[in-house]
Amino acid sequence: MVLSTGYNRVRTAVFISGTGSNLKSLIKFSKSKKSPISVDLIVSNNSKAIGLNYSKKFKIKKKVLNFKNKKLSENNLILILKKNKIEMICLAGFMKILSKNFIKKFKGKILNIHPSLLPKYKGLNTHMRVLKNKEKYSGCTVHFVNSRLDSGKIILQKKVKILKNETKVSLAKKILVQEHKLYSKAIMKVFNL
Ligand code: GRF
Repeated sequence: MVLSTGYNRVRTAVFISGTGSNLKSLIKFSKSKKSPISVDLIVSNNSKAIGLNYSKKFKIKKKVLNFKNKKLSENNLILILKKNKIEMICLAGFMKILSKNFIKKFKGKILNIHPSLLPKYKGLNTHMRVLKNKEKYSGCTVHFVNSRLDSGKIILQKKVKILKNETKVSLAKKILVQEHKLYSKAIMKVFNL
């Protein structure tokens, strides 16, 4: 594995676009004794993202970049990440697609969480599509990010059973609970812990 941790915790940035419940669970995890990472930066493309409130609550630096001009925002972001000595990136509900160039710069160091059992149901509206196809199971996946959407090497997955009267709201809720546990487990695995 490319990532390794010595005495210090690996400085990590979490990228969000919305609620940030995965961010919150990552912050909590990072504060545990066993965690190989520290969350040192929150990045959002959306200035109204509720998850940005965790910046104040947990005293973590935040940066908002609107991504209207992707190249400009990414170049800016690369400088910010360097300045903050960020070594790892966790995408957590981040709704922008990063460019090949950006991903190359952090090769093997960007993780993402996706609310489906990849390689099934890449992209958006996963729960709706899963229910439409009458799947018996769905779940979530933590994977490395490569230049193809939701296609990088899978680190860990968690399966959940779909009940008879499942709605996309109930399914999303059920999967989100698992996401919160899975992300930190996947990080432990990445560091061989
Ligand atoms: C999660 O379901 C994540 O897998 C998906 O977007 C949702 C983000 O939730 N990509 P939150 O912002 O972490 O609460």
